[in-house]
Amino acid sequence: MNEQVEYEEAIKKLKFYNQEHLLNRYNYLDEEKKQKIINQIKNIDFDQMKDLYSKRDKKIEEKDCKITNIDYIDKSKLTKEEYNKYYNLGKSIIEEGKYAIVTMAGGQGTRLGYVAPKGTFKIGGGVDKSLFEALSDTIKEAREKYKNSIPWYIMTSRENNNATEKFFEKNDFFGLPYEDVKFFKQGELPMIGIDGKLLLDETGIIKLAADGHGGVFEALDKSGYLEDMKTRGIEWVFISGVDNVLAGLVDPIAVGLSITNGTLATGKSVVKRSPDEKVGVFCKKNNRPYVIEYTEITDEMANAKDKNGELLYGESHILTNLFNIKALEEIAKNKLPYHSAFKKAKYMDSEGNIIKPEKPNAYKFEAFIFDAFESLEDMSILRVKREDEFAPLKNAEGEDSPNTATQLYINYMKRKEEGLV
Ligand code: UD1
Repeated sequence: MNEQVEYEEAIKKLKFYNQEHLLNRYNYLDEEKKQKIINQIKNIDFDQMKDLYSKRDKKIEEKDCKITNIDYIDKSKLTKEEYNKYYNLGKSIIEEGKYAIVTMAGGQGTRLGYVAPKGTFKIGGGVDKSLFEALSDTIKEAREKYKNSIPWYIMTSRENNNATEKFFEKNDFFGLPYEDVKFFKQGELPMIGIDGKLLLDETGIIKLAADGHGGVFEALDKSGYLEDMKTRGIEWVFISGVDNVLAGLVDPIAVGLSITNGTLATGKSVVKRSPDEKVGVFCKKNNRPYVIEYTEITDEMANAKDKNGELLYGESHILTNLFNIKALEEIAKNKLPYHSAFKKAKYMDSEGNIIKPEKPNAYKFEAFIFDAFESLEDMSILRVKREDEFAPLKNAEGEDSPNTATQLYINYMKRKEEGLV
């Protein structure tokens, strides 16, 4: 198709959706950018964008839903028999090369105030290791222990993919075999201004933003890595965020528990520190597994106690979840709901000025991985020790900061040396 015809088709589509302003800067773009914006217009689902905009301030439908607490198994309270049974089941899976890891590293680390990919952030306290290196160490150790390969799939974003790949190359993949570390980019969605108009970015094409870690299922599928897992005979996939330096990436107990319970997923939890800790909590919604996010829980629910005086909704979701490959395939077939966030977004106006807003001006749409849990009939919850598996790195200072994460990592390594974990 020639350029003029493509341009006219794009204008026609934009007029229909009341978004013609997107081509106001077209004549000022170079050839590559012209082609890029035309392709963007072809590929964007404007009906979906219209729908997302119309629901931007609505919470996801909670009508007629019954929230109840969820059962869990406490790893530290398993009997010897139970422990051995789960462990042996899981161990066989890992030894047979049927286990893989996915790390979601597409986030921006805004709260941490760090501009490079979050996984490249070095934990301090004399440890001198990046998050990626610490996670690589965990995988290397497990490969030695279970004497088989454990492929690692790392989800990046358009913005940080090159920097992430370069970081691994520069560090010689931290000693992991090159063919067992794969990178794939998460999806993106346009950002929409207050008036419902899509924004242009600083270069004059449509402004896109990462579609949230719930995009991991679709991205795994589209990148061909879901197929790659199947070809390798992978059955269980552990998915977690890059920002937990103690994430228990290789967990035979979680696998054994899922197999024994006949569930296609296991979520690991830790006891919620206090009613206002900024973590989502596992629960059941209409009898299906669910996570209520810390931004959405009511005070009443956050403070409710059970008969033993423990928080009723106290199983914190630490973003470390295990899925059977069949569950991943099913989830990837359907779209998850999108949550909207109102953010400050730099953009180009119709005159070509770059506007840096002082206050939020645009909607960003994100899917959350745990919205997939509802599609599973049931899932197992494995309560683990916070000090062994949860050292989040979220903020520049205070709680969940480099200081706290480093201290937790050092303490864990010490306990490990002493044979206590
Ligand atoms: C998250 C969970 C929360 C949980 C807490 C535990 C959400 C919405 N909530 O909160 O339930 O209790 O972690 O630490 O996730 N990421 C991507 N792509 C994206 C967005 C995020 O890969 O588009 C990755 C980040 O790199 C990070 C992880 O997902 O590794 C967590 O994302 P973040 O948005 O920081 O979640 P939290 O608000 O900390």
